[in-house]
Amino acid sequence: MASLSSPAAAAIAVLLLCCWCSARRCEAAGAAGVYVLGDSLADVGNNNHLTFSLIKADFPHNGVDFAGHKATGRFSNGKNSADFLAEKLGLPTSPPYLSLSSSSNKTDAYIGGVSFASAGSGVLDSTNKDQCISFNKQIDYYSSVYAALVQQLGTSQVQAHLSNSIFVVVIGSNDIFHYVKSSSADKLKNPAQQFVDSMVSSLRGQLKRIYNLSVRKFAFIGTGPLGCCPSQRNQNKTGDCNVEANYLSVQYNKGVSSLLKEMSIELSGMSYSFFDAYTALYEYINNPEAYGFAEVKAACCGLGDLNAKIACIPISTYCSNRRDHIFWDFYHPTEATAGMLTSILFDGSVPYVYPMNVKQLAAL
Ligand SMILES: *[C@@H]1O[C@H](CO)[C@@H](O)[C@H](O)[C@H]1NC(C)=O
Ligand SMILES: *[C@@H]1O[C@H](CO)[C@@H](O)[C@H](O)[C@H]1NC(C)=O
Ligand SMILES: *[C@@H]1O[C@H](CO)[C@@H](O)[C@H](O)[C@H]1NC(C)=O
Repeated sequence: MASLSSPAAAAIAVLLLCCWCSARRCEAAGAAGVYVLGDSLADVGNNNHLTFSLIKADFPHNGVDFAGHKATGRFSNGKNSADFLAEKLGLPTSPPYLSLSSSSNKTDAYIGGVSFASAGSGVLDSTNKDQCISFNKQIDYYSSVYAALVQQLGTSQVQAHLSNSIFVVVIGSNDIFHYVKSSSADKLKNPAQQFVDSMVSSLRGQLKRIYNLSVRKFAFIGTGPLGCCPSQRNQNKTGDCNVEANYLSVQYNKGVSSLLKEMSIELSGMSYSFFDAYTALYEYINNPEAYGFAEVKAACCGLGDLNAKIACIPISTYCSNRRDHIFWDFYHPTEATAGMLTSILFDGSVPYVYPMNVKQLAAL
């Protein structure tokens, strides 16, 4: 024991402790918390708390493959991208903000991450107004979480914590669906590219506001090939993808990825991963067998042509093999698809995710 009290031994002990700590940090991929903003692709139950919303998934057959076969509010047969990403980062899924309103120690509840994601939300406040927590409102909620953390722990500790946390944003699909549904007179007044530009311009202010609340690491999930969702194919006589929705999605992803690049140059310390969900999912649709899929067009759960006339509600039927379907319902991926996409986001590379993946982002 005598040798332990010598300065050299103490130095070695400290050194060992540091190595052990940093190895553990590596194992947990380095994220202190995961904060999630966005729509139904990431909602883990916020909308369950919105009494007047019709946009919900807290009933069967949602959750048929979830632990306990429970419908939790996720628009999926099982886990969604928020669950998979948390898992990859070695953390539990961040709880829905609206489920925490009565917890006694807010700091404890907020520190590991919170999900503000709400099904139906879009970049624009007008998208599904009063049916969801708008993206701006989600940022307001994050702002109050930030203030509560600062009050408990002090600014510098909170800043350190947040700069080691990942901020996931998945938004834009619902705005595009609304645009595609709008009348041709409205489209004439607001052409596709102009509409996409207005989305990106709105995002610029919104992401700046988040950055201003000490967020430094953004993982932005772009939109998928929205025209290939069963809901959109179903409106094409040939059952092919809707050309306009896919065009908007491509243009939106281009706009967002340039925006992030600009912001990361302009704003000190900001880093990001951009996930091109369009290119990744399109690859599965074009080449299904290579990825274990047999059905790329029809939803698993629903009714009517492509199971896309009626949503996944208790009277709908659902497929027996959920692993070989790309889509769970007429808008959302199956657990299998979400899991594969999230793996690419986490440790994939160009052209799917850039300038770095989330694993690299977390290790910064
Ligand atoms: C709440 O939890 C945090 C983190 O565990 C702790 O630092 C703080 O003292 C707690 N506050 C109260 C009022 O118990
Ligand atoms: C950034 O935060 C400061 C206060 O911390 C505030 O005065 C300023 O208006 C904010 N800017 C933006 C763009 O939100
Ligand atoms: C339907 O699919 C065909 C074939 O791909 C395509 O040419 C057409 O533009 C599509 N219709 C719509 C409304 O997107």
